[in-house]
Amino acid sequence: MTAPLIVANWKMNGSEALLRDVAEALVDRQGSVDVVLALPAIHMSLARALLQDGIRWASQDVHWLESGAYTGELSAEMIAQMGASHSIVGHSERREYFAESDEIVAKKANACFRAGLIPIVCVGESREARQAERTEAVVCEQLEVLLAGLPQGAERLIIAYEPIWAIGTGAEATPEMAQAVHAVLRDTAQKRGFRLDKVLYGGSVKEDNVAALMSMPDIDGVLVGGASLSAQGFSALCANAAATHN
Ligand code: 13P
Repeated sequence: MTAPLIVANWKMNGSEALLRDVAEALVDRQGSVDVVLALPAIHMSLARALLQDGIRWASQDVHWLESGAYTGELSAEMIAQMGASHSIVGHSERREYFAESDEIVAKKANACFRAGLIPIVCVGESREARQAERTEAVVCEQLEVLLAGLPQGAERLIIAYEPIWAIGTGAEATPEMAQAVHAVLRDTAQKRGFRLDKVLYGGSVKEDNVAALMSMPDIDGVLVGGASLSAQGFSALCANAAATHN
């Protein structure tokens, strides 16, 4: 049984003090969970100095080109040089506030592979799409465009299913709802000749609901926003995920 993958997405939050607290709180968790901290890029040099074996770090975005006149951007190569192992790509906040299309998301995922980073690509439906029973259509379309832009058989691809209506709202998808979407994503990828390394669930994951989510067969881990910003809370969440992993 592989350890559950718990990815903390700090978004535009956190501090060096929080990173120190999280590192300390996670010391006892090593081995039982696989933790990746998606940090603001400015904290990566401290992460490199501070984090012990088993706790890795990630960026929350990358540019799709290796270098160039793109003020304010960071390339996947730069992120890899900072020792990161993964990058989140296509988070719904990037799609909404920075107008990232499925095609741009695919280019960014490609850039991650080129630089040796593992992409964690987010997909998810709006509340309106869920109410119109279009969840599967929306997430499969996002996945299909992504896969069409990747080299056939690209491995180590991680998909995070993050229903937009569940992000930061306290209204998480039920384990059954998430399981159903994860199974469809796996199936769709397989039909296109890809094997998804892991499928994560994100959206209001907390210490007290992570166990039920992790008990589902196609939920390999979670992508955690708000609940990753407390060292003790995040450590407890990791413990609960480890205790009930399917
Ligand atoms: P919350 O856990 O705060 O709902 O955020 C989820 C998320 O967007 C993680 O990427």
